[in-house]
Amino acid sequence: MAEKVLVTGGAGYIGSHCVLELVAAGYVPVVIDNFHNAIRGEGGLPESLRRVQGLVGREILFEELDVLDEAALRGLFGKHRFSAVMHLAGLKAVGESVQQPLEYYKVNLTGTIRLLEAMNAHGVRNIVFSSSATVYGDPAYLPLDEKHPVGGCTNPYGKSKYFIEEMIRDLCKAEKGWNAVLLRYFNPIGAHESGDIGEDPQGIPNNLMPYVAQVAVGRREFLSVFGNDYDTVDGTGVRDYIHIVDLAKGHIAALKKLKENCGCKIYNLGTGTGYSVLQMVKAMEKASGREIKYKIVARREGDVATCYADPGLAAQELGWKAAFGLNKMCEDLWRWQMQNPMGFSKN
Ligand code: UFG
Repeated sequence: MAEKVLVTGGAGYIGSHCVLELVAAGYVPVVIDNFHNAIRGEGGLPESLRRVQGLVGREILFEELDVLDEAALRGLFGKHRFSAVMHLAGLKAVGESVQQPLEYYKVNLTGTIRLLEAMNAHGVRNIVFSSSATVYGDPAYLPLDEKHPVGGCTNPYGKSKYFIEEMIRDLCKAEKGWNAVLLRYFNPIGAHESGDIGEDPQGIPNNLMPYVAQVAVGRREFLSVFGNDYDTVDGTGVRDYIHIVDLAKGHIAALKKLKENCGCKIYNLGTGTGYSVLQMVKAMEKASGREIKYKIVARREGDVATCYADPGLAAQELGWKAAFGLNKMCEDLWRWQMQNPMGFSKN
């Protein structure tokens, strides 16, 4: 029988792409989401998952559920027998987390604790957790490998990822039978090549590439480039951008790792290559054939100059490697943006 995998936050950008890859790999995903970052479609189903259904030709099991709701979580675990959980639900805006630290700690930490308790109570002790390269803080050396010190980031969002990593590590140490793969994402961008699903930020995008795509499509006038006086190739910030489909496939590799009774493992999901903001703008101009206007403004607080992964450990132990390069990331992002200029909501 096909294995059931619970995906928390499965209607979001990363979640919807993971759900698609889960189905492709023969799993049965069960998605929960509270619509904090997702648009409702027909019949109460998230529009992202309605699109996934169209792509895979199969029904996606979904429940509107908040991970803070203990009773609902208990009910869910009573109803389904999960072999593993992919925990992606959480608040994720760095700037907002500085303004609303308690909200971020409540949702991200308490939400995770309730989920882990429900898992424990129902004997589901396999988890893939959505962590972030932000746990490394300001890099002491590059590329960032998993042995780099963590906990150096300064905002509540990043700290919540670090705290959750520590919590899960302690749990795996304390109780035999728990297996966890903590995935440290670098900068996921792009979209499924169908252009049917992609990133749909609510309000003004915080992240570079959704913003660039909205400039290209004419939704915004120009990009503000946050500083051009960093010690980088052209003075703008350098990041390790990874295609969202590669990232989603990394989650499938992680699920397979859990099967080996791996205990607690940590892997970077990145490509190993860094590109500057201006290199990204150029690449997107090429993919879209549109000019992308930008202005140089002050640095954004908390940004590091350069951040890219050593993806070697994931290659070695998960047999996973990013397959797609910069052009493909931008072409797929552009297709999604062209086909859905206003995201999921108004098409
Ligand atoms: N940038 C701009 N203008 C913008 C947005 C971003 O110039 O409007 C620049 C940033 O200064 C940075 C680069 O583009 O140099 C990438 O910025 P993003 O906001 O896209 O990504 P970050 O690397 O800052 O943050 C991302 C995720 C976080 C995660 C972190 C891990 O948003 O959730 O990667 O490194 F924690």
